[in-house]
Amino acid sequence: MEKKRTLVTCALPYANGPVHIGHLAGVYVPADIYVRYLRLRGEDVLFICGSDEHGVPITIKAREQGCTPQDIVDKYHGIIKDSFARLGINFDIYSRTSSKVHEKNASDFFRKLYDDGAFITRESEQYYDPEAGTFLADRYIVGTCPKCGNPGAYGDQCEKCGSTLSPEELINPRSKLSGATPVKKKTTHWYLPLDKYEKWLSEWILDGHKEWKTNVYGQCKSWIDGGLQPRAVSRDLDWGVPVPVEGAEGKVLYVWFDAPIGYISNTQELLPQSWEKWWKDEHTSLIHFIGKDNIVFHCIVFPSMLKAHGDYILPQNVPANEFLNLEGDKISTSRGWAVWAHEYLQDFPEKEDVMRYVLTANAPETKDNDFSGRTTSSATTANW
Ligand code: MF3
Ligand code: ZN
Repeated sequence: MEKKRTLVTCALPYANGPVHIGHLAGVYVPADIYVRYLRLRGEDVLFICGSDEHGVPITIKAREQGCTPQDIVDKYHGIIKDSFARLGINFDIYSRTSSKVHEKNASDFFRKLYDDGAFITRESEQYYDPEAGTFLADRYIVGTCPKCGNPGAYGDQCEKCGSTLSPEELINPRSKLSGATPVKKKTTHWYLPLDKYEKWLSEWILDGHKEWKTNVYGQCKSWIDGGLQPRAVSRDLDWGVPVPVEGAEGKVLYVWFDAPIGYISNTQELLPQSWEKWWKDEHTSLIHFIGKDNIVFHCIVFPSMLKAHGDYILPQNVPANEFLNLEGDKISTSRGWAVWAHEYLQDFPEKEDVMRYVLTANAPETKDNDFSGRTTSSATTANW
């Protein structure tokens, strides 16, 4: 019998900031423990990760700092990669989605789906900055929060009161680029019609994977029962993998379309000759370690993309964890509310295992957990 093969992936961290204890406790330390266990058993394992280097937050950070998006991702890719190595999280490869291999692979993946007629196109109205001459992602629109009056709310969220918003709801909306009032303009995008995959997803997950963690299964069930909608897989943006179709100038693949394909690209980069047996052979068991905010993408969207493509295996399990909060508040890279891995490593040399132990003992496996540097009597609080 052929030897069992396990391909373990960890969510590709966004290269718009360093990794923090929430990432480590929820995803990277648990995955590393699992991989060490399989390796000790003498199994054939591949452990894949890398930086997720596209998306709007990176372009915003670059603009704020007066540099290019590439400068931003170069900086954080280096910091993140180094933190993982020093914490003993030994990926077989830690690559990045701005690599050439990935650009080609993601582009080819899109093109195959496009050629097979797997997408639909839709015209919609998006906000546009008439002074800067570009479309505006929701994050590029700021205004006053209708719920709490915060004058610096974003078009997708108010970070002060936590409300999810749409740009329409903002009072006095302005473009972050020029300060101009955004106007609506028509644009066309490609969509993956997830509604067509609903029945298949329901059979595959709800009937076929009842063994998945209850938090994961429950989220999948509520997405599927709520009815799936087509999802746009392209964006009007100048940072990302260009949409490989004539007439698509100024459009790139949506970051959540290209990033999971990065797992495949990074495997190709590591094993140019033998990557296929890890992705196209039923004897391989594919396991995605992620945080709970990634469940829909790894259980619903990416599997539908893989299914549409047709050549690839599907995940065997998606062990998503909940969140580790910090002193009662959600950890946030944009608000700077975090304990950063690289700072810990600098401040507490040779204490990597202390960090690993504390985060393992307090891993948010079934519910959110809280990390506090202060002394507290709560049994579920992670203390130093
Ligand atoms: N960058 C995303 C996050 O941190 C995770 C991307 S996972 C991938 O939430 F599958 F898309 F790569
Ligand atoms: Zn608010």
